[in-house]
Amino acid sequence: MRARRSIRHYLPDPIPAPLLRQLLELALEAPSSWNFQSRSIVVVSDPELRAGLTRATNGQPHPQEAPVTLVFVAECEAWRENLDDVYDQARQRKAWNDKFIAMFQESGPEFQQDLAERGLLREYAVKDAMIAATYLMIAAADAGLATSPMNGWNEDEVKKVIGIADRDDLAIALLVPVGLPAEQRRHPGRKPFEHKVFQQQYGMQEINPVRSAHVTNTKEESS
Ligand SMILES: Cc1cc2nc3c(=O)[nH]c(=O)nc-3n(C[C@H](O)[C@H](O)[C@H](O)COP(=O)(O)O)c2cc1C
Repeated sequence: MRARRSIRHYLPDPIPAPLLRQLLELALEAPSSWNFQSRSIVVVSDPELRAGLTRATNGQPHPQEAPVTLVFVAECEAWRENLDDVYDQARQRKAWNDKFIAMFQESGPEFQQDLAERGLLREYAVKDAMIAATYLMIAAADAGLATSPMNGWNEDEVKKVIGIADRDDLAIALLVPVGLPAEQRRHPGRKPFEHKVFQQQYGMQEINPVRSAHVTNTKEESS
């Protein structure tokens, strides 16, 4: 986690297919609200489509240079789909009992209906997509690959590139180029811990601050 950096320039070398597959599987391990899994990932490797993504990002080089750019799609209406396959899996794995499944089946759609009335379906699906993208970026860093989260794009143009221009139920959450880095970047720094971590109430500091256990970061320390 400490070694990951947002990388803007990439080598053209392709990512071995089994490694990319593994990273995508790890991204899908991310938790999601009610296990609705309201997100999907479009793997864009075609050079013309990657050029289209660069145009959609106002000329940012990452999608054109990286061998693959992943588009994390928020599926705002996924909760309306039949989820019996998910519940069957949970039952077979003895992860959830019938009572828990019944509660999910009843309360999940109620929760989503309330979101729909408050215009929040998109926001909640974006949360599912963002956490999956985060999982992927951490897994990629561990595999020695570079990534960058990307927010700076025209949503309609990105949707056109991945073939969903007419889908109002789908939104773009994040673009993540993946590949070997063509640049080194140093950690740009963060605000002090005490400015961003509070105790009990927002703005409240710990009276006797605890020092962290040292987590060795071999990758960063050796670079
Ligand atoms: C939601 C989000 C959107 C971002 N969008 C872009 C982007 O469009 N282009 C870019 O070069 N970097 C983008 N970044 C990368 C940030 O600039 C970067 O994470 C930040 O400067 C901290 O650097 P680090 O990731 O190396 O720690 C984005 C980061 C996040 C979390």
